[in-house]
Amino acid sequence: MAKERIGILGGAFDPIHQGHIQMAQAALDSCQLNRLYVIPAGDDAYKACVVGKEDRWKMVVAACSQDPRLVPSRFEIDSPAPCYTADTLLALRKKHPKADLFYILGADGVFKLHRWHRFEEVIAQCTFLICPRPGEMLLEAFNAEKARLTALGAKFMMIRMQPLSISSTEIRDRLMQGLPTPNLYSPLREFCTLKGLYGMPLREPEADAWIDKLFVALNPRRFAHSLSVAGYARRLARVHGEDQRQAEQAGLLHDCAKCMPLKEMQRIATQHSLTDDPTILSSNALMHSLVGAWVARNEYGMADPEVLEAIAYHNTGHAGMSRLAMCVCLADSIEPTRESYPLLEQVRALSELSLERALLMSLEGTAAFVRSRGKYLHPRTQETIAWLKTLPEVRTHKK
Ligand SMILES: [Fe+2]
Ligand SMILES: [Fe+2]
Repeated sequence: MAKERIGILGGAFDPIHQGHIQMAQAALDSCQLNRLYVIPAGDDAYKACVVGKEDRWKMVVAACSQDPRLVPSRFEIDSPAPCYTADTLLALRKKHPKADLFYILGADGVFKLHRWHRFEEVIAQCTFLICPRPGEMLLEAFNAEKARLTALGAKFMMIRMQPLSISSTEIRDRLMQGLPTPNLYSPLREFCTLKGLYGMPLREPEADAWIDKLFVALNPRRFAHSLSVAGYARRLARVHGEDQRQAEQAGLLHDCAKCMPLKEMQRIATQHSLTDDPTILSSNALMHSLVGAWVARNEYGMADPEVLEAIAYHNTGHAGMSRLAMCVCLADSIEPTRESYPLLEQVRALSELSLERALLMSLEGTAAFVRSRGKYLHPRTQETIAWLKTLPEVRTHKK
């Protein structure tokens, strides 16, 4: 059997950005790695960390949910300080005695390598994967240093990729100035916004605790999706004159019960008389919204009935639903991290013009998809579709 090839990307990740992800993916692809550990440093390793290790960790976990080959590791965060690269490599060597280890390093880092703590131990354990840097780097000096280190036993490979000029410093500055951050995974922008990180004003005092609770309750993809829905629901509320704070709260909490086992949801639903509809009770998809509203009220302290309504009906809608609930229902199906589906771009475009028409298109698309798979469509979805068709906004447009 071929030896396993394991990559390592360490750093402060303050915050982790898409440049890190692109670098990791290029290493995985161009060096045929099986997986890659993303290892954020503890708070003592970098004097300049703006955000504490637990929030940096949550952002790393959410960012790594974009690619199953990326494995976040708490090794350095949980190690007693100081933790050196040599310690990390030796721990990984213990865990994977037969694997080849590859450590990602920026090309400029090669010049500092000889000063690393326990340099000999480091070079004995891994091959360095060199990531090209933009701008004028003296190729001669780089090659000379590489040759000198190779003579000492260090091993190098180049990652095939275009040089990147994305930095965490630039992203922090852009967040602080309220500028767009195209190189930050969009759920992380919401994470920073809701928690008031990197100099942004704290907008939602309870969001910090809610996010920490959701991080434990949800899997990483669902966690990232929830952050994204919060942001998109707020955006739709702004465009259509609804309450942005309520939309954001409902968006953040809408899937709070999604990762609960069905049995646990059934227990809550029965104990608190939420429903006796057997089709709802037997469906994870239908139960998580109903039980989610109960969990939001009882475990997250959400008392606003309009927010709870939006959570309870975020997947099927209901006849007479509020426009706030429409914002959440739509945001759930068109937020930026959603995998592409046939009507996605059309629903997104229509949502800029009309909540009612966009929601109708989205629910009709869902209904057609469910039927084409021979699956069960809950009558409430059909009722919502029929009700939306009676609305003046929809009827006028048809004429
Ligand atoms: Fe959901
Ligand atoms: Fe969702």
